[in-house]
Amino acid sequence: MNEKQVYVGMSADLVHPGHLNIIKKAAEIGEVTIGLLTDEAIARYKRLPYMPYEQRRAVVESIKGVSRVVPQENLDYRPNLRRYRPDYVVHGDDWKEGVQKEVRQQVIDALQEWGGELVEVPYTEGISSTALNKAIKEIGTTPDVRRSKLARLLKAKPIVRLLEAHNGLTGLIVENVSVNDDNGRAEFDGIWASSLTESTAKGKPDIEAVDVSSRVTTLNEMLEVTTKPIVFDADTGGKIEHFQFTVRTLERLGVSAAIIEDKTGLKKNSLFGTDVEQTQDSIGNFCAKIRAGRAARVTDEFMVIARIESLILGRGMEDALERARAYVEAGADGILIHSRSPEPDEIFEFCDGYVAIPDRVPLFVVPTSYNQVTEDELQARGVNAVIYANHLIRAAYPAMMEVASSILSNRRSAEADSRLMSIKDVIELIPGGK
Ligand code: SPV
Ligand code: MG
Repeated sequence: MNEKQVYVGMSADLVHPGHLNIIKKAAEIGEVTIGLLTDEAIARYKRLPYMPYEQRRAVVESIKGVSRVVPQENLDYRPNLRRYRPDYVVHGDDWKEGVQKEVRQQVIDALQEWGGELVEVPYTEGISSTALNKAIKEIGTTPDVRRSKLARLLKAKPIVRLLEAHNGLTGLIVENVSVNDDNGRAEFDGIWASSLTESTAKGKPDIEAVDVSSRVTTLNEMLEVTTKPIVFDADTGGKIEHFQFTVRTLERLGVSAAIIEDKTGLKKNSLFGTDVEQTQDSIGNFCAKIRAGRAARVTDEFMVIARIESLILGRGMEDALERARAYVEAGADGILIHSRSPEPDEIFEFCDGYVAIPDRVPLFVVPTSYNQVTEDELQARGVNAVIYANHLIRAAYPAMMEVASSILSNRRSAEADSRLMSIKDVIELIPGGK
């Protein structure tokens, strides 16, 4: 086999003529191996790909000029390059700046170890992945596609990040806000449909007084304008027989998961802790609720996640871990451990015990009171998903109060103006208003 070996790394999620051009150039100089980035690799620096690895592989394999496809498990090419020792790496010339700049240099240095060479193909003008992405978002999603996204994210991302939303507008914020910094691009992975913020937005206490039908109306508002997965705060889940209907409803809508907490009777918000009377469910009864919820599902994608309130209710670490073991055994698809301690210590202690549980399932936390903790620290302890549970409503309410008070004090609105969006910006905020 004398033919030169050529390596091309790509995600190939939205295959466009730019990709085909690179493959064509690569095939002109030798036999082409595509290093196809895994879902994990893509999710770490960008977002979850639209198509899972197997589907992308099927597409790329059938492109003319491709001899074989191998997984590339990291944005860093070096492990694969050292393994396959290609004569050439072919890449578009658009990676000289930005997040990929360092990766490019690493490729050049690694190739030098055996005299390989980097060949850069001029970027194909007129194609923008950003524009393609935007167009796909505008098409929207379906319940099936959306529902499966949470499980895919949990598998692909080191830690999944959810933010609360309680109506269409806050849903849009979770959907669209992103930042670009030294660590690359960051955005929220999904929506937490919080009972606290939805009740608050409706002027009601967080005691399951907003019924499921009303919560579903809010969900529909969010579903209509977003594509990201939704995790529903199902409070206690209510009676077992009622929870089964809730699961069916949520699953049909394309919600990915319901989290039920192991309290019973009149539920109060967890952040009250032991300042109010709250009763914890028995392990037996709660396990029966988990089993019934899972049995009601039509697909095996919908997740029933069990939330442990032992630390909130002062029942201790042993009780929390005993419940975690029992709930995992009953089939829970995830565990949420809640705490209202100002420090993350008890959460860390729980994590240390939890990771030892056989067949452990994804672990969720809600760092509202212990907000100094970073996502990296939580991830290092084995946490799989972090929920920012109430932050948008807490941001909005003080702003609204200040403006309302300012109008009253000044008997006009001019003084409040500097705190306000312009009317023009409001009108243009939502696409399609013109
Ligand atoms: C919610 O957001 O409604 C929650 C989390 O259940 S907490 O308010 O901390 O209990
Ligand atoms: Mg709640």
